[in-house]
Amino acid sequence: MNLILLGPPGAGKGTQAKRLQDRYGIVQISTGDMLRAEVAAGSEVGLQAKAVMEAGQLVSDDILIRMLAGRIARPDCARGFILDGFPRTVPQAVALDGMLAGKDMRLHAVIELRVDDAALIERIAGRYTCANCGEGYNDVLHPPKVAGTCDRCGGTSFTRRADDTRETVAARLVAYHQQTAPILPHYAAQGRLHAVDGMAEPDAVTGELVALLDPLAPPDSA
Ligand code: AP5
Repeated sequence: MNLILLGPPGAGKGTQAKRLQDRYGIVQISTGDMLRAEVAAGSEVGLQAKAVMEAGQLVSDDILIRMLAGRIARPDCARGFILDGFPRTVPQAVALDGMLAGKDMRLHAVIELRVDDAALIERIAGRYTCANCGEGYNDVLHPPKVAGTCDRCGGTSFTRRADDTRETVAARLVAYHQQTAPILPHYAAQGRLHAVDGMAEPDAVTGELVALLDPLAPPDSA
């Protein structure tokens, strides 16, 4: 099963993609994580992307399309994938159509997580992750059970993303409304677009996604 999770920054794409990955045995592909890995490695792509990401702008279509084409060609995508953060522009959506057609693959569903802009700022400005295992937390919405200690691995060191400041989130939201929202009609015209209420509690969002996706592919099958 091949899925796209769409939605503004902080809509819960990463949170839900991890849950769907576990349930259906398909891989999460986060282009944001891939770019952050390039930045951390100091690669040529990372050097080009760093300032753009920290300003809340979108990295160039050329870089992202090349990166995604390489990623979906890897063997772990054969059973299916969840795209988290791609496509983000109309040219990326058109390129993805071409990539999938060339591999005789198709999209099973494109899911838009809908969340109010005001809620997004609170979610993102409070977000941090365990530096050891990557478990996600939020200052207000989801703190660890014991302050300063990761629930999952007991780690005591945490990190925050460089682009999670209030100012950068505002710029990321503008980029979403101007450059990413216009791809929704592209998928609506293909009959693949489903809107899900991303304002609900995370478990309720997962329930709505599962109700939508189970008929397309039973748990842990492609
Ligand atoms: P990326 O890493 O993709 O960031 P994003 O789209 O801005 O999304 P986030 O990861 O911030 O949020 P999310 O929707 O995954 O929410 P999460 O689950 O973490 O991209 C970063 C940058 O990379 C871009 O700005 C751009 O520069 C570049 N980039 C990436 N892809 C690109 C592309 N294709 N083209 C060009 N440039 C690209 O949840 C957020 C918080 O809310 C967490 O604290 C979580 O615990 C909490 N939360 C989640 N769900 C709920 C809920 N239902 N209720 C309450 N709280 C919740």
